Amino acid sequence: MTGQYSRMTESGGRPARWWSSEAGQQEARRLGLAESARVALSMGVIYQIYPRSFQDSTGNGVGDLPGITSRLDYLSDTLGIDTVWVSPFYPSPMADFGYDVSDYCDVDPLFGTLADFDRLVAECHERGLRVVIDWVPNHTSNQHRWFLASRSSRDDPKRDWYVWADARVDGGLPNNWLSGFGGPAWEWDEATGQYYLHSFLASQPDLNWRNPEVRAAMTDTLRFWLDRGVDGFRIDVAHFIMKDPEMRDNPPAAPLDERMFKSLGEYDSQEHVNDKGHPDVHGVFRDLRALLDSYPGDRFAVGEIHIFDWAEWAAYYGEGDELHMPFNFSLVWAPWHAAGIRERIDALDRAVPPWGWPNHVLGNHDEARIVGRIGSDAARVAALLLLTLRGTPTLYYGDELGMPQVEVPPEMVQDPWGIQVPGQGRDGCRTPMQWAPEPGVGFTTAQRAWLPFTPAADRINVAAELADPGSMLNLYRRLLALRTAEPALERGDYTEIPHAPDGVFAYTRRGEDAAFAIVLNFTSEPQVVDLGMTGTVALSTHPDRDGTEIGDTFGLRPNEGVIIRLR
Ligand code: NOJ
Repeated sequence: MTGQYSRMTESGGRPARWWSSEAGQQEARRLGLAESARVALSMGVIYQIYPRSFQDSTGNGVGDLPGITSRLDYLSDTLGIDTVWVSPFYPSPMADFGYDVSDYCDVDPLFGTLADFDRLVAECHERGLRVVIDWVPNHTSNQHRWFLASRSSRDDPKRDWYVWADARVDGGLPNNWLSGFGGPAWEWDEATGQYYLHSFLASQPDLNWRNPEVRAAMTDTLRFWLDRGVDGFRIDVAHFIMKDPEMRDNPPAAPLDERMFKSLGEYDSQEHVNDKGHPDVHGVFRDLRALLDSYPGDRFAVGEIHIFDWAEWAAYYGEGDELHMPFNFSLVWAPWHAAGIRERIDALDRAVPPWGWPNHVLGNHDEARIVGRIGSDAARVAALLLLTLRGTPTLYYGDELGMPQVEVPPEMVQDPWGIQVPGQGRDGCRTPMQWAPEPGVGFTTAQRAWLPFTPAADRINVAAELADPGSMLNLYRRLLALRTAEPALERGDYTEIPHAPDGVFAYTRRGEDAAFAIVLNFTSEPQVVDLGMTGTVALSTHPDRDGTEIGDTFGLRPNEGVIIRLR
């Protein structure tokens, strides 16, 4: 068993949880850090687990909670992350693999029991890991007892818990809103003669957050998990919960100057100004924050918010009284060249309010794997970027191994989005974690896992990569250890180095005890860099460079990145 402070290092580093201690709180005051930022810092590096795919403990080919518990040493000691975010494990018909919740206060038998969840939390806490869980407030499953009641009759007391609307006089849909998974966002209910709203699948009806009973019931679900000791929530499609009360049509989309995110097909034909993100959403998050703050210890909220208008995005920090962070997805589909990345980091930097803390994401269960998007050499540079930028990094399980995007043959497609809109499937990034070069890759003893493994699983797995000093896993481990050891990389100031050559993105991180320059070659050509600063390579994408001296001018190999400890 590892003690809570076992990752404190001699060079002055401290575990993220330190920010929750009395000393950490004093330090935050001395630095003038707002409370929201301190709490975000206390979560450290976040690691997302898709529970179907992390570790199967029952031999049915699907991961589960005891499986996750059995792998905690990997997370706390081998890797060295701080917070585990577990995607939904609630009872669910699994139409959207758990994002269709039929009971917010239990565990689906597929994943285990509430006792298994309590054990997971207890064992995480013993290791100094925090636990963040998904909370899905916008929609339930159509099998949730609330919806069954709501659709049972127009007079049911829960009728107004969901968004119901009459057909237009001509019999048409109530408005032009679209589902994120294709087609209209309205489903006709024959029995009661009205449409209900579903921003995603028809089996995921939207809750009516304007109904105070819904707000109260959903707040109770938060209390349920806070009382069980969870440290925070990742809020699914957080901005969707408040819509235009008059349910006006969305206007057609204006032509895009720059695509900030992947194409969503027909959904992109509208400006989504009325079907989500109504300003009333902020009152909900102020209440949510007050609830979190009323609990002992640091309790945290991060919102899944795909908004790329930065002022609108930043509003979710409130005045430091709403979410601790809205996820920043701008790097996920950024054009992978130095200028593109620089632009997006600059924009983010300008957007985050003084009381907020930035964050960065490269992948999750909805996006193609980073290796699939940019290739494995560039993905090493991406790892340096993610773990040295100023802001909370969120890692997606398996990216630390360089797991590729897996080709899932059409007959094995599981994702409902992929079935409804061919090409949009998300299975390729949800394949099982690869632990060892054996049948079942150490994930399962079943003949067949719920999704296929990559053909390269004999090479890309934890056991093989631990034995290879040059592996992606060892790069992540060294990066995480360096970040823990060096407060400058966690908290230090960020300044871009303006005179880097085209193709190179460079910046400094300066703290009270140390300063670093991070110099990243985004091209597959060699580059010559005149930094005007000297130092020693603390870490590099190419380990043969670690510890070498860097003069004013130096060369970078293709896709090479270095972290230089400045003199
Ligand atoms: C966002 C989640 O990240 C995604 O996986 C899910 O399909 C949608 N919400 C709908 O629940």
